[in-house]
Amino acid sequence: MNDEIILSARGLHKSFHKDRNEVPVLRGLDLEVTPGVVTALVGRSGSGKSTLMHLLASLDQPDRGEIYFGNERIDNASRPRRDFYRNREIGIIFQFYHLLPELSAVENVLAPMMIGQSAWSYFRHRKEARLRAEAMLDRVGLLHRATHRPAEMSGGEMQRAAIARALMTDPRLLLADEPTGNLDTETGLDILKLLTELNQLDGLSILMITHDDSIAAGADVCHRMQDGQLQINPAQPNFQVADNRIPA
Ligand SMILES: Nc1ncnc2c1ncn2[C@@H]1O[C@H](COP(=O)(O)OP(=O)(O)OP(=O)(O)O)[C@@H](O)[C@H]1O
Ligand SMILES: [Mg+2]
Repeated sequence: MNDEIILSARGLHKSFHKDRNEVPVLRGLDLEVTPGVVTALVGRSGSGKSTLMHLLASLDQPDRGEIYFGNERIDNASRPRRDFYRNREIGIIFQFYHLLPELSAVENVLAPMMIGQSAWSYFRHRKEARLRAEAMLDRVGLLHRATHRPAEMSGGEMQRAAIARALMTDPRLLLADEPTGNLDTETGLDILKLLTELNQLDGLSILMITHDDSIAAGADVCHRMQDGQLQINPAQPNFQVADNRIPA
């Protein structure tokens, strides 16, 4: 594993095709994610942030370009290798949580373990897995809602469950798409605090997508997405790339 860069992308291109029209989204995008820090990716709605995250999480593939996890090229790896990367080596959290509605919080947290191994292996390790899932729920302050299904949880609680699920496999990198986007300001700040703690106490590397400049300003590094590419800026309290781009 490359110690300097945990995740990188080179020359990513991605277009969608709709009614014979081509919708170019990524146009030769380069990205380097440093381990141990919180990296924010900001950009306007429709700028391609979620498209990029899907490529980085190997949920979709680029038309052109390369994605590396450490030194290993991942975008064109075998399907089992990409499944292992997605289910075990990184954690993913989505704006709308993507919890399974029929499962309780603790069962949702267990889901990656069930997917990531054979039924027999899961059966043999199910007690440890359950204890770990409970420990993860405790870590995010949700143990008291372990038996609640998503419909019986608040938005903030669902996002905590999604974070616990992402942490279940002890990933080195967390990809978070608008983790606060669907929450009120105060609940969003609680989630940000939790993510910051995970970064500072556990050394978890986080790549966080947001359209909120004030959230991005709290990150260690910011990348702004524009015209299908990234502009890289060290985060500062007065981070204002958009303004800097307007000539006086
Ligand atoms: N499957 C698809 N088919 C056609 N066009 C798509 C598809 N998925 C995304 N797009 C288009 O690609 C562009 C980028 O979408 P994407 O979801 O990546 O934006 P985003 O930056 O995440 O926006 P938001 O902040 O609103 O979540 C949008 O213009 C969208 O309409
Ligand atoms: Mg999006």
